[in-house]
Amino acid sequence: MKFFIDTANIEQIKEAQSLGILDGVTTNPSLVAKEGIVGREALLKHYVKICNIVDGDVSAEVIATDFNGMIKEAEELSALHPNIVIKVPIIKEGLKAIKYLSDMGIKTNCTLVFSPGQAILAAKAGATYLSPFIGRLDDIASDGVDLIRKIVSIYGYYGFQTEVLAASIRSTQHIIQCAEAGADVVTSPLDSILGLLKHPLTDLGLQKFLSDYNSTVGKK
Ligand code: E4P
Repeated sequence: MKFFIDTANIEQIKEAQSLGILDGVTTNPSLVAKEGIVGREALLKHYVKICNIVDGDVSAEVIATDFNGMIKEAEELSALHPNIVIKVPIIKEGLKAIKYLSDMGIKTNCTLVFSPGQAILAAKAGATYLSPFIGRLDDIASDGVDLIRKIVSIYGYYGFQTEVLAASIRSTQHIIQCAEAGADVVTSPLDSILGLLKHPLTDLGLQKFLSDYNSTVGKK
């Protein structure tokens, strides 16, 4: 199972990288906007900065919604660094772009996925990653984790190579549920990743070990 961090924040990416468990980064235009990046040139530099921190796939999203525009952007983005993965929305033009890029050997991340049908099309087109947005489904009283389960099972039947990248993670519990559902990758905010470390019995146990040590072996 791969762990990606879902942010464009350099400090958070560095912190996740320092844990030694980070396999990649996902960004989107909203995450990039939060970092106060102004202008295309600054954005491209920001992507390179991220690629220089993490030795793994870094998703950068296209803004164009037509095939030619998407391919032009994809070429610009993939020239930045070998780890760049082109994030493309699952719309008709996006599907064509994924097929084209996959034939060219360029990695893609098919985004804004909310149904098994979209997942099948993306896999047929040769997407490297598929990003079902589970939190946004939960937000509308649907079941995001169930979508992961369905897609993993469909991909299993047919041997599709596309990796299921659970996105729109809202909690630590989501990470566990996606792992149980068989997601290949989970992309999460830093807090949700750090939440995996937490257990009150770990804290209590450590406290006791330290106080026992200090009252005996460590006594001065
Ligand atoms: C990542 O690839 C997605 O763009 C992201 O997880 C969406 O998350 P959100 O639903 O919290 O905006």
